[in-house]
Amino acid sequence: MAAINPVVDLSLEDGIAVITSNHPPVNALSAIVRDGLAAAFDQAFADAAVKAIVLTCAGRTFFAGADISEFGKPPKGASLHALFDRIEAADKPVVAAIHGTSLGGGFETALVCHYRIALASAKVGLPEVKLGLLPGAGGTQRLPRIVGAARALEMMTGGAPVGGRQALEMGLLDELVAEGAELRAAGVAFARRVLAEQRPLRRIRTQAVAGATPELFADFRKKNAKVFRGFDAPEAIIQCVEAAASLPFDEGQAAERRLFKGLVEGVQSQAQRYMFFAERAAAKIDGLPEGTAARPVKKVGIIGAGTMGGGIAMNFLNRGIAVTIVETAQAALDRGTATIRKNYDNSAAKGRMSAADVDRRMGLLAPTLELATLADCDLIIEAVFENMAVKKELFARLDTIARPGAVLATNTSYLDVNEIAAATQRPQDVVGLHFFSPANVMKLLEVVRGAKTAPDVLATAMEVGKAIGKVAVVAGVCHGFIGNRMLAQRRIQADALILEGAMPWDVDRVAYDFGWPMGPFQMSDLAGLDIGWSKDTSKGATIRERLCELDRRGQKTGAGYYDYDARRNRSNPALVEKLILDFAAEKGVTRRRIDDQEILERLVYPMVNEGAKILAEGIAQRASDIDVVWIYGYGWPVYRGGPMFYADTVGAAEVVAALAKHKPRLGDGFAVAPLLEQAARDGRRLTA
Ligand code: 3HC
Repeated sequence: MAAINPVVDLSLEDGIAVITSNHPPVNALSAIVRDGLAAAFDQAFADAAVKAIVLTCAGRTFFAGADISEFGKPPKGASLHALFDRIEAADKPVVAAIHGTSLGGGFETALVCHYRIALASAKVGLPEVKLGLLPGAGGTQRLPRIVGAARALEMMTGGAPVGGRQALEMGLLDELVAEGAELRAAGVAFARRVLAEQRPLRRIRTQAVAGATPELFADFRKKNAKVFRGFDAPEAIIQCVEAAASLPFDEGQAAERRLFKGLVEGVQSQAQRYMFFAERAAAKIDGLPEGTAARPVKKVGIIGAGTMGGGIAMNFLNRGIAVTIVETAQAALDRGTATIRKNYDNSAAKGRMSAADVDRRMGLLAPTLELATLADCDLIIEAVFENMAVKKELFARLDTIARPGAVLATNTSYLDVNEIAAATQRPQDVVGLHFFSPANVMKLLEVVRGAKTAPDVLATAMEVGKAIGKVAVVAGVCHGFIGNRMLAQRRIQADALILEGAMPWDVDRVAYDFGWPMGPFQMSDLAGLDIGWSKDTSKGATIRERLCELDRRGQKTGAGYYDYDARRNRSNPALVEKLILDFAAEKGVTRRRIDDQEILERLVYPMVNEGAKILAEGIAQRASDIDVVWIYGYGWPVYRGGPMFYADTVGAAEVVAALAKHKPRLGDGFAVAPLLEQAARDGRRLTA
C-alpha cells in the first residue's frame, strides 16, 4: 500500500489498483482528497501493470459529498470536474465500491465510474437541494440517463437517498455485496470479472434520457408548486433535467455549471449551508464537563394524555420505547389513548405503517390513573395544564414517587423551570423539555437548562431528543425561552399593525410572502383565540377578546379573524373589518395606510432584537441556535436562514435604522438590544 497523500492510498493487487480515501468523519471531497484522488488516478492510468481500478473509502462511509465548508471560499485543490472527465474517459474499467452514504458529489463520483457495487446497507442519493444547490458535478445530467427524467426529478428535488436494494432495482448499482462481506475484496473480484468477461466500459454520458416530455416538466412544476414555493434550487434542477433531455451531454453539463454557480453564490444556498452546520452545532453543549455520560432511558412516563402528552408519547412509541401515560380521570385517559390509536390507524390507512406496527406501538403504551406507577420510569415528562401552582404541586408529588436518578422534565412553554425544580428536593434532576405542537411531527425540542440542572441530566435530555428524531436546542430559563419569547414580539407588532391601519389579511399576506407557512392571524385562528381567555373575566380590552366574545374563537368555531367554510377555506369577513375599525375609533387611533415594507420590518426586526437580547443574556448558547429554533419550531423559511442570519443578510445597521424609524410605534419600553447596536456600529455579523 502506497500513500499518495495523507488521506489517499493506492495499492496494487495483481493487476487491480485499489484507491482508498480515508478522510474522517465522512470522506467529504475536500481539496486534500481531490488532490490525492487526482494523483492516484494519474498513477493508476499511467501504470501498464494496472488493468482495472477499484475506488473505495475507509471509515464509516463512502464519500458523503463535496466539502460543504469549502463553498464560498476561494477555490483550491484539484478540480472535481477534471477528475471526473478523466475517470469516465479512461480506457481501464473503474469500479466504485460503496458503503455507508454515497451522497451528492460522492454519488456523482460513483456515477462517473464504469461500474458501481455496494453493500446492501448503503444509501445513495443527491441531497444538494437541501443545501439550496443542485447536483453540480454532472449529477443532473447522469441521473436522468439512468433512472429516466421523472424519477430523477423526484430524487433530486426531494433529496432523499435510496437504499441499496432499491438503487440496484433502479439501475444505479450493478451489484449488491452481502452484508458482512469484505467490500474491498468484493470490488477487486468484481473488477476481475469485468476484465475476464471483457465487459464494455459503461459511460453514462452516452445514454439517452427516457420519458422527458414537455408535459412531464409542466406537470411536475404544477404538482410541486406549493412545496417548492420560495426556493430557487428545485426550479434550477428542473431546468437541468430539461437540458439533459434536450441537449448533448457537454452542453447540458455547461447549463448545469451555470445554474450551479448562480445557486452557490446566492443567499439561499448560503443560508441553507449555514443551517446544515447550525443544526449540528446545536447538539453541542457549552460548559459540559468532558466525558459527561447521559443517563440510560428505557422507560418513559408522561403525565397528561391531552394533545401535547399524547403527541409526546408517540415519539417514544415510534422508537420502541415503553411509555406509561397518566391522567386524572378515566374519560380523559380513554380519550387520549383513543387519539393516539386513531393517529396510528390513520398512518396505517395511508400505508405509512402496517397494522402490526400499530399494534406494536400500542402494546408499548401503558395507560393508568395512578401516578405512583411512574416509580420505575427513567424519564418522566409532565405535560399538564400550563399553570405554575398545578405544576409545582405535581413535581412535589413526583419527588416522593420517582426513583432516585430519574430525570424529571416539564413540558412548559413559558414557565420558570427553576421555580418548578424548587418544588422538589432534587432540582438537579429537573429539566425543561419544550415540545412543539403537534409534538409527534414538529422537529424542534427546546431543552431548558435550569440553574441547578445537572450536566448529565442535560446530556440525557439532548440524547433523548436525538433518539426520538428531534433537533434539540439548549435554552436558558426566561419567560417563553428562545422561541416563544421572540414570537411574543411578533405578536405585539401584528396586533399594533391592525390597530394602526392594516387588516389581518394584509399582515398575513406579507408574512406568507416572506416564506412563513402562515401569518400570525392565521396561526391564531389555528391555535384558538381563546388560549388564556375566559368568558367570565373577558373585558373586551383587545380585538382578540372581542372576537372571542362573539364566539369567534378560531378555526374550531368556524370563525376567528377569518371566516371558514366546511372545508376550512378562508375568507375575509366584513364583520371583522368593522370590529377593528370600531375598536381603533374607540381607542382614538387615526388609522393610516401601512405599506408592506413596514409590515415586514415590524414583524421581523423586533424578533431579531429580542434574539440579540436572548444571546447577550446567555439564554441561547449561540446565534445559530436561535435560527435552528425558528426553522424547526415555527416554519421560518430555511432559505432565509433564521432571524439572526436574515438580519446579517440585511445588515445590523439597516435593522437598527429601521427600528429607530419605527420606534414611536414599537410599544412602551421597547429598546434596541445593545448587542445589535454594537454589531451595527462595528459592522459585525450576529452569526459566526
Ligand atoms: N462537508 C463538510 N462536512 C461534513 C459534510 C460535508 N459534505 N458532511 C458531514 N460533515 C461533517 C458534519 O458537519 C459533522 O461535523 P461535526 O462532527 O464537526 O459536527 C460531521 O461531518 C459528521 O456529520 P453528521 O453529524 O451529520 O453525521 P451523521 O452520521 O449523522 O450523518 C451524513 C452523516 C448522512 C453523511 C450527513 O453528514 C450528511 O447528510 N452530510 C451531507 C451530505 C450532503 O449534503 N452532500 C452533498 C454536499 S454538496 C455537493 O456534493 C455538491 C456537488 O454536487 C458538487
